[in-house]
Amino acid sequence: MRRVAIYPGSFDPITNGHLDVITRAAGMFDHVVVAVAHNVEKLPLFTTKERVALAQAAVKGIRNVSVDGFEGLLVDYAQRQQARVVVRGLRAVSDFEFEFQMALMNRRLQPKVETIFLMPKDEYTFISSRLVREIAWLGGDVSNFVPAGVQKALKQKIAAG
Ligand code: PNS
Repeated sequence: MRRVAIYPGSFDPITNGHLDVITRAAGMFDHVVVAVAHNVEKLPLFTTKERVALAQAAVKGIRNVSVDGFEGLLVDYAQRQQARVVVRGLRAVSDFEFEFQMALMNRRLQPKVETIFLMPKDEYTFISSRLVREIAWLGGDVSNFVPAGVQKALKQKIAAG
């Protein structure tokens, strides 16, 4: 049976930390779907279409990874993709509480779907999309934190106001 994992998130925008987790997951599963959530509570900087396109460009070199947008419950989406595993990155203890709550809630909603946590390389543990957006917005250099395409898109988005 083909082992498919879903790596869900807002990806607003995708960072080098996300890419590190994706690469690790791609080495463990036959296929990884990077699932960009449409209905994120926070108003995203990039539209779903833009977040999907930026993630697609970032994972282009990884053979067994695809990118998709999704709406509705993650566990329903995982079922539709015939995936039994959801991958989430854990950077620090501060991530743990929310991730633990979400994983257990998802298990209650759909016991067939397991959540696993992967740690990005330590040099990426302080990167977050929120900080990247803030630094870019304030004119800082984000080239060490995001792929080149994302850096360019941030510049364009900010220039457009
Ligand atoms: O990158 P984020 O913002 O931490 O990702 C959170 C995300 C998109 C994985 C989470 O909000 C989610 O799964 N949303 C889909 C809706 C859903 O299933 N909600 C119930 C979660 S228990």
